[in-house]
Formats: sequence, C-alpha cells, structure tokens
Amino acid sequence: MVTVQSNIKPLISEEQIAARVAELGRQIRQDYGDTNILLVGVLKGAAVFLSDLLRAIDGAVDYDFVAISSYGNGTKSSGVVRILKDLDESPVGRHVLIVEDIVDSGLTLQFLLENMKTHRTASVKVCALLDKTARRVVDVPIDYRGFEVPDVFVVGYGMDYAGLYRNLPYIGVLEEAPRE
Ligand code: IMP
Ligand code: MG
Repeated sequence: MVTVQSNIKPLISEEQIAARVAELGRQIRQDYGDTNILLVGVLKGAAVFLSDLLRAIDGAVDYDFVAISSYGNGTKSSGVVRILKDLDESPVGRHVLIVEDIVDSGLTLQFLLENMKTHRTASVKVCALLDKTARRVVDVPIDYRGFEVPDVFVVGYGMDYAGLYRNLPYIGVLEEAPRE
C-alpha cells in the first residue's frame, strides 16, 4: 500500500477521485446512449484514469492509446508535439473520446484534436481528469472534466515528475518542483 510521501501535499483523495470517475462514467453513458465508444488514452499519464473510467462506463466501450512527445523537459510543455505511437484500432466511423490526465497549456490536446480530424471519425469529444485553466495558451474544448486544479505541479494517479509518483493512488502537489 502506497501511503503519504513527505514532499507531496495531498490535493485530491483516492475517494474523491473514485466518486468523480463514477459520475463521469454515468454522465458519459447517459450522453452517448447505447453508442459504442472508443476511449483514446494519451500515454503514459492517462493510463490509470482510463482504466478506471473504462470500468465506470456501462455497455459497448473499447479503448486504445496514443503516445506523444512534447519535446519538453521538466514541468513545462514546449508545444512542439509529435506522435510516438499511433492508434492500433482504426478510428474511422468511431465515436472517439480522448482521455487525458491533465490539460495545461492545451497544446497537446490541440495537436491531438487536429490529428483526429484527419481521420473520418463519427465524433470526437474530450474527457480530462484535471483542468489547469490558469495556464491555458490555446482554447481547447473539454466535454468532460473531473476537477479544476490551481497552477501547481501535480503528481500521482498516473501523473509523474521525472518518471516518479505515477503509482500514488491520490493526486498531490509536488513541493519545490522546478518551474520554467
Ligand atoms: P499541455 O500540452 O501543456 O496541455 O500539457 C499536457 C501534458 O503535460 C499532460 O498530459 C501531462 O502529461 C503534462 N502535464 C501538465 N501539467 C502537469 C502536472 O501538473 N503534472 C504532471 N503532468 C503534467
Ligand atoms: Mg499527458
């Protein structure tokens, strides 16, 4: 059992996450009716959220992953994005729901949405667990949002700093994270 780490200040508890994910799953199914949904998770950060969200959605749902590199380092995204791993499944004719851990500048999501437009999907929507609105650089649509977070660097529940803390079951603020 992973417990409290001294350099991480808890922000959103495991229980709060579970309750919100259950609500999002219900809301998504209600909005989509009996449509077959293709969740597209953005590796690696969104993998933990996607696996819980998947199980909170009843009925026909499948998932796939993309991996992208933002050429950034540390705690800031550079905005220069490229695909490291594309979809395994064809998204043509599918109702795609992009699943992100956190939207910060919005540049990663903007790139993904542009990329998705080149496929003939039936629809594209976005579900982000966290929204750091204060740092937004480009306007991106977020159809489903778990929590709004302040301008702090968060880790846990799939999100990392230098490859660490993804395994924390809660979301916390990394104290003394370098800021660019
Ligand atoms: P954006 O392109 O600036 O919106 O950044 C999106 C990506 O940067 C997210 O999918 C995360 O992988 C990463 N990111 C942004 N803020 C944080 C944070 O506070 N903690 C961990 N990762 C973050
Ligand atoms: Mg990410």
